[in-house]
Amino acid sequence: MQIIYHGHSFVEIQSDQWTILIDPYITGNRMCDIKNTDHFRDTNLIGIIITHGHADHVWDAVAIAALHPQVTVISPGPVIKWLQTQGMTNPTHGPSIGGTVATDQYSVKLTPATHDGHVMNSGIYSQPAGVIVSIDGHKIYHAGDTWLTMDIQLVKEWWPIDVAFLPIGDYYTMGIQDAVIACGWIMPTTVVPIHYSPSGTIKADPIEFARLIMLNKFAVPKVLTAGQYVVL
Ligand code: NI
Ligand code: MN
Repeated sequence: MQIIYHGHSFVEIQSDQWTILIDPYITGNRMCDIKNTDHFRDTNLIGIIITHGHADHVWDAVAIAALHPQVTVISPGPVIKWLQTQGMTNPTHGPSIGGTVATDQYSVKLTPATHDGHVMNSGIYSQPAGVIVSIDGHKIYHAGDTWLTMDIQLVKEWWPIDVAFLPIGDYYTMGIQDAVIACGWIMPTTVVPIHYSPSGTIKADPIEFARLIMLNKFAVPKVLTAGQYVVL
């Protein structure tokens, strides 16, 4: 199984048979290795997971869902409601935070994330989420956008986490220092920094994050550029 990083918070889980997308962000994502949503037309997509309703997480979901009208879209309930106002007709699951959705192939648990919850500029408000995805005997934690919060300590209860994706860009989320603390709580096998860029508001140095993780022996850090992946 490959867990591919596509830049920002966009993660693609590719098992032997299936593909699941978390926070697909292509349009306007200058870190992304994929040119347009059409890239996913011929994939065996079985799930689109959206952590919260900001453009850099939710924006391309409508277009990708339209390519695969039978694929289930999973997100906090109010985000699902917004997607439907944008014309999305796919089957959906909109659990509350803490709830789990189980399909035949995988399960998704929504974990707490503390972050602004406005869904685009719709006036809809939704508690943002992180997710723990279980598939083929592996567990992947994607923190979504969150600042450092004690709730992240609970993720350890689902140990072992094979890969944790943690934001390090600060300003809207955890910065490097906070993400290192979070990683120490979770103790995943591998940690991948996300939600940062080489310049601008969320400028951060992923190598510095990796250095601190190694120094503390919290996990094996993997700094991925878009298109690179972790093998499980
Ligand atoms: Ni956000
Ligand atoms: Mn974001």
